[in-house]
Amino acid sequence: MRGRLLIIIAVLPSVTLGAGVSNCVDCHENVTPGIVTDWDLSRHGQLGLDCYTCHGDGHTSAADAAKAGIPTPDTCTECHSAPVEQFKSGKHALAWTAMHALSSVHLEPADPAEDMKGCGGCHKIGLKTEDEIASLKAGGAGFGVASCDECHTRHLFSTAEAREPQACRTCHTGSGYPQWEMYSSSKHGVRYLLKQNGILPESSSAPTCQTCHMGGGDHEVRSSWSYLAVRFPLPEDETWAQDQTTILQGLGILDPEGNPTDVLESVKNADIARFTEEDWQRERDKMLDTCGDCHSSDFAEAELEKGDDKIRKTDRLMAEAINTVDGLYRDGILEVPDTYAYAFPDLLAYHDAATPIERTLSEMYLNHRMRAIHGTFHANPDYALCRGWSLMGQDLVEINEMAAELREEHE
Ligand code: HEC
Ligand code: HEC
Ligand code: HEC
Ligand code: HEC
Ligand code: HEC
Ligand code: HEC
Ligand code: HEC
Ligand code: HEC
Repeated sequence: MRGRLLIIIAVLPSVTLGAGVSNCVDCHENVTPGIVTDWDLSRHGQLGLDCYTCHGDGHTSAADAAKAGIPTPDTCTECHSAPVEQFKSGKHALAWTAMHALSSVHLEPADPAEDMKGCGGCHKIGLKTEDEIASLKAGGAGFGVASCDECHTRHLFSTAEAREPQACRTCHTGSGYPQWEMYSSSKHGVRYLLKQNGILPESSSAPTCQTCHMGGGDHEVRSSWSYLAVRFPLPEDETWAQDQTTILQGLGILDPEGNPTDVLESVKNADIARFTEEDWQRERDKMLDTCGDCHSSDFAEAELEKGDDKIRKTDRLMAEAINTVDGLYRDGILEVPDTYAYAFPDLLAYHDAATPIERTLSEMYLNHRMRAIHGTFHANPDYALCRGWSLMGQDLVEINEMAAELREEHE
């Protein structure tokens, strides 16, 4: 502790103590009492790290509030270099980039993304460029650039809060990424909730999201498959490789002839897929190591292989559905929307889909395939089967039926 205090004392003089600086807290006790209460309770407050440590001293009166600095991860670096470095090498740091990465297919994320209510409400965890920060600031208060307050929220900045699975809930929830729902109703989550309620002993075994995804408090998060569940090199199994190719075409990463498009470069930059066997295996080994704390390695390996196998099976259904819609484009039965870069079904059309059949195809991929896969990995039979696999089957029936009707109408 003494060592830490010395570090602060060494750091503080780098902040210019302008006139009125000591008044931040005094004035804000009246202006924003809730913030001061949290700060008082935080390690920062207890150690006397004043507001200007993070916000600078450009603003000192009610008239110049706009001059207050907005902290980014770089603000935290001088005292917390390890978590910042880890965070920057993981996928959370790329969330803002990823949000835009696939948009060249045809998505126009501007509105839902930039007001921090749609896409941006979750993807704001990612790092932004200075230009992006400036434009966000110009467009409103400019908050939501910090990233570091997403799990240990301001101004408590509490480690205890960040360690609980609820810290992940706000974003890892809902139709396409229901990790909270899957986890909290799995045996893992139920056991952990019983621990939180004090029914099971504090030292009993129950993994949290952090146990499996931030082992040892490591802020670098990444999974083997990632959300889209495509990877390179393609699987050895020929049918599976063909099915993954069809999906990559539906994502606009490969063109209808199977050649890489410029979206591939964005996918690389945003680390959306693993591009080597080693990169994929590294994450898998880490995960198996974690399961190994509570399960036998045979059990754990078999469980994760069931997840891989579920991806293979869902890919079969997806390829069939994509080819059905593609057939409608090819035969001139369904018009290719003019926003599309290629005459090929777009798995990401989703809320912009022009027709029910295209919407169902998107939903099958983004919601039901994801649930079938993630439900399997997260030990949740309800999501793996009832809310995932079964609904994919239903989607396929509907797609085939709608295709048949469209063909009939055409004739
Ligand atoms: C004399 C009172 C006063 C003092 C001193 C003061 N502030 Fe403020 N501060 C305000 C008011 C008023 C607002 C605007 C609040 C609002 O919008 O409701 C504000 C807003 C802020 C904001 C939000 C900025 C925004 O764009 O909304 C931050 C951050 C902030 N203050 C930090 C500080 C820091 C750091 C100091 C010390 C260097 C400080 N304040 C000193 C009164 C004060
Ligand atoms: C450890 C760094 C740190 C310290 C110390 C700190 N803040 Fe902040 N503050 C942040 C971060 C991070 C944000 C969020 C910025 C964003 O969302 O982009 C923030 C946002 C704010 C905001 C605007 C957002 C809102 O919720 O209204 C105000 C006002 C504010 N701080 C006031 C204060 C005051 C007053 C103090 C001192 C009592 C203080 N801060 C101390 C890091 C800090
Ligand atoms: C000037 C140095 C300094 C800056 C800048 C700073 N912190 Fe801290 N922070 C500390 C110190 C010192 C501690 C206490 C460490 C300890 O207890 O071992 C701390 C503790 C923490 C903790 C752990 C609190 C707990 O419950 O144990 C978190 C989380 C944290 N800081 C987040 C941040 C974030 C996020 C930022 C940037 C927005 C930031 N800090 C900026 C010095 C700083
Ligand atoms: C409720 C929070 C939330 C909203 C809203 C949201 N996302 Fe996401 N997004 C996530 C999460 C969480 C992941 C990671 C999921 C996973 O890996 O299972 C993700 C993953 C992604 C990915 C895949 C990136 C990768 O590296 O695998 C893309 C692309 C994406 N989102 C774009 C968008 C766009 C565009 C929007 C708005 C139309 C949006 N998201 C809205 C939370 C959200
Ligand atoms: C995805 C959630 C999440 C985000 C985002 C996050 N943290 Fe953390 N943070 C955690 C968790 C979980 C812990 C507790 C780790 C443990 O169990 O030791 C933690 C602990 C910490 C601690 C205290 C322990 C230590 O390593 O000294 C600091 C300081 C900290 N984080 C800083 C940061 C900073 C700075 C950022 C932004 C770059 C950040 N965190 C972003 C989840 C997060
Ligand atoms: C503010 C929203 C938000 C919070 C809170 C959040 N995440 Fe995320 N998380 C995201 C988004 C968005 C992505 C997708 C990032 C990308 O594509 O680059 C993501 C990606 C991930 C990934 C990587 C998946 C992959 O594609 O490889 C893991 C693992 C993860 N989060 C775990 C967690 C854990 C554990 C917590 C809580 C400690 C947490 N997240 C808290 C928004 C959030
Ligand atoms: C028992 C360990 C465990 C727990 C607990 C756990 N996960 Fe996972 N998670 C996994 C495994 C295994 C995968 C699949 C990794 C892979 O091979 O891609 C995964 C994948 C993910 C992904 C990436 C999507 C994908 O398919 O690659 C995200 C995001 C995620 N988990 C978030 C969370 C969140 C948030 C929580 C808590 C609400 C949580 N996980 C709880 C083991 C766990
Ligand atoms: C911190 C300890 C811990 C970790 C880490 C952990 N588990 Fe578990 N797991 C448990 C406990 C406890 C149960 C409940 C056992 C029961 O149902 O009797 C359980 C149950 C399960 C179940 C339910 C099936 C069954 O046997 O009842 C599966 C599947 C599972 N775990 C897979 C995994 C996988 C895969 C990993 C790694 C990604 C993992 N677990 C990591 C503690 C853990």
